[in-house]
Amino acid sequence: MQKMLVEGGHTLNGKVRISGAKNSAVALLPAAILADSDVTIEGLPEISDVYTLGDLLEEIGGKVMWNGQTVHIDPEHMISMPLPNGKVKKLRASYYFMGAMLGKFKQAVIGLPGGCHLGPRPIDQHIKGFEALGAKVTNEQGAIYIRAEELTGARIYLDVVSVGATINIMLAAVKAKGKTIIENAAKEPEIIDVATLLTNMGAQIKGVGTDVIRIEGVPSLHGCRHTIIPDRIEAGTYAIAAAAAGNEVVIDNVISQHLESLLAKLREMGVTVEEGDEQLLIASKQPLKSVDIKTLVYPGFPTDLQQPFTTLLTKTVNTGVVTDTIYSARLKHIDELRRMNAIIKVEGGSAIISGPVQLEGARVKATDLRAGAALIVAGLMANGITEITGLEHIDRGYEKITEKLTDLGANVWREEMNDQEIEQFQNS
Ligand code: EPU
Repeated sequence: MQKMLVEGGHTLNGKVRISGAKNSAVALLPAAILADSDVTIEGLPEISDVYTLGDLLEEIGGKVMWNGQTVHIDPEHMISMPLPNGKVKKLRASYYFMGAMLGKFKQAVIGLPGGCHLGPRPIDQHIKGFEALGAKVTNEQGAIYIRAEELTGARIYLDVVSVGATINIMLAAVKAKGKTIIENAAKEPEIIDVATLLTNMGAQIKGVGTDVIRIEGVPSLHGCRHTIIPDRIEAGTYAIAAAAAGNEVVIDNVISQHLESLLAKLREMGVTVEEGDEQLLIASKQPLKSVDIKTLVYPGFPTDLQQPFTTLLTKTVNTGVVTDTIYSARLKHIDELRRMNAIIKVEGGSAIISGPVQLEGARVKATDLRAGAALIVAGLMANGITEITGLEHIDRGYEKITEKLTDLGANVWREEMNDQEIEQFQNS
């Protein structure tokens, strides 16, 4: 088990290249189940969630061949193997095996998904969609059993705008008989990326990127080659780090339109943001003004950037308020930031951050993926050394983060934890 050490006070400068989008990758890999021939996906991020899903594809009989960031998936010998336990519990996105296996085999048995603990994360809208398509869904001893005689297109109104439910219903509906209409669908760029892959496989999908998606079922889908979109959350994390501890940082391989809500807030704070061709320049000027943010579904401010943004607000003049309307309990990073000298009050589900304060290095724990990102940004801003444990969360979503930050001039490294530290970590 390792910990990360961040020595604050080194100004970030230079260029960082963004990897493929985690939240696309974790849906594109299960989507390959639906094809009858080889699917090649290029530009995948080298993160543990991607490899876990690759292992799950092999568990159901797929041939998965990696070549760096490219994967070839041969689905020919896949079978509808139950996946009640084991690796499915490691990540949230294993729930995409439900839609993909239902679409392909008309049945699926999948354990309840794991992933970051951000408060309640129900999957009732996924199940409502599967049922509307004709499936019977039961929960037996912590695994979801889904079976259908036949899948028939349906009109499905999502009560909550959900990324996962929108993608899962698309996966189940692309081979159903007739037309499916998903109303109040999510509009995140990752949904468009998955629909692009499915369309390249022969699916007929219209309206992705709007809140009404229309799918005309087709009897079979074929293999194809697909290149993933860049990770807007990774890009946003580096933009925040650059604003917090940088001079001039170029973020390369980015679709800046995917980040408009963050960029608008950075500009409001006084950060210089220049949008180029697949690049962003972030130039930080001091002092920064505080702002308030409220997370919303896309294109609103992403919940996945709320935690690192909270860290940035510790250095701004006056008070900033952060409200997460998607996951109101996504606040575990706050206690850790307080250990580092941050002054943050939680009132009525909002975090009220008083600044500016000088953060101080401390021993802190990443309790989830984006909390980890928040603590790394804090470490870059702090006096002295910050020791971060819980790296398994960070490694689920950020490719080569130690190397990328080092290239930008940060002093960041990993060390093995000794037995006493491991015991303390496990008991904390
Ligand atoms: N919701 C329901 N019922 C459902 C589904 C969702 O009530 O059946 C609620 C959730 O509890 C939440 C809201 O709807 O309050 C939105 O949830 P959504 O389904 O959109 O989230 P998700 O698909 O489970 C994905 C990302 C998350 C990201 C959210 C919101 C993946 C694998 N995960 O989760 O990413 O925060 O969308 O944008 O794509 C991360 O990358 O750190 C991460 C947590």
